[in-house]
Amino acid sequence: MTSMSSTNWANQVKQELAGFDPKSLGKVGVLMGGVSDEREISLLSGQGVLAALNSKGVQATSFDPGVQHMTLLAQEKYDRVFIALHGRFGEDGTIQGLLEQYQLPYTGSGVLSSALAIDKNMTKQIWISRGLPTPKHCMLTPTSNFNEVVQKIGFPLIVKPASEGSSLGLSKVENLEQLKAAYSVAAKFDREVMAEECIVGEELTCPVVGDGQNIQALPVIRIIAPKNNYDYHNKYFSDDTQYICPTGLGDALENEVQQLVIESYKALGCRGWGRADVMLNAQGKPFLLEMNTSPGMTTHSLVPMAAKHAGISYEELVLWLTKNAKLSHALVGGRV
Ligand SMILES: Nc1ncnc2c1ncn2[C@@H]1O[C@H](COP(=O)(O)OP(=O)(O)O)[C@@H](O)[C@H]1O
Ligand SMILES: [Mg+2]
Repeated sequence: MTSMSSTNWANQVKQELAGFDPKSLGKVGVLMGGVSDEREISLLSGQGVLAALNSKGVQATSFDPGVQHMTLLAQEKYDRVFIALHGRFGEDGTIQGLLEQYQLPYTGSGVLSSALAIDKNMTKQIWISRGLPTPKHCMLTPTSNFNEVVQKIGFPLIVKPASEGSSLGLSKVENLEQLKAAYSVAAKFDREVMAEECIVGEELTCPVVGDGQNIQALPVIRIIAPKNNYDYHNKYFSDDTQYICPTGLGDALENEVQQLVIESYKALGCRGWGRADVMLNAQGKPFLLEMNTSPGMTTHSLVPMAAKHAGISYEELVLWLTKNAKLSHALVGGRV
């Protein structure tokens, strides 16, 4: 059984798209590739999005900020853009800021929410301030007293770059020696590194869509990675990682997780779409790990998977997200 929330969403999408002429979207730019460590995945996301738009008759072309300077974007005369970039300079508010300047509506969250969500420490500060459950954490520096960190968090713990994606630079740590080594690894990816309580239990992820008063969760997906290690390889390349939807953990738990991720999305002021990663502890209590504001859109990605379970195809999802591209601030009256 799919939850109320995702059924409502699917009905809403079907209604919005009924009789909608995809050509009315005008010329669409699909931003893909870029310069982050997640470039390769972004190219796959972008290719999927571009193919979906073209298949619906939309005039869409790709634009890769990794090879084309962003100032060239203005020459393309796009009517809107789909952001299929992941990580830095794509998911972090910087592109969103430029698009606000160009007055070019874009998919997903605005400048502030994008910048907050890419920073796992800031994200957690906001969640903590709202009383939302997220694992205990502290920031690590070269001069941190690692003994104190262990006292506060305990083993096992997770060390990760505060603003990297795709599990890059992340380690699970069981002792003090490993903690020092893990810090050095994470520090190669980011100036900001965090230690976080390791939540041992089921891994879940749940997409959230919409804006303002109309925010809904899609079906929850349970992830079972080989040896419980959902690393870069098991995320994108392994055939052994299992994705289970519905989760099999029961409606009550799924509803609880959906409610939680909706709250986590609202707390950050997200819009358009996002996907929260969640861990359940041994007692089945959910903890929020992070919010992805430009989630993967490869044909095997998790948001399209959840949408499909709600009854919405990849193409419909792309069309709906593109149709709902927005600006935070429209320049009324134009420039002087
Ligand atoms: N505190 C934690 N407890 C248990 N597992 C974790 C924790 N933090 C991260 N992980 C594991 O590492 C993966 C990646 O971590 P995440 O915080 O989602 O960062 P990102 O996806 O941006 O690399 C998660 O999907 C999960 O498998
Ligand atoms: Mg994640």
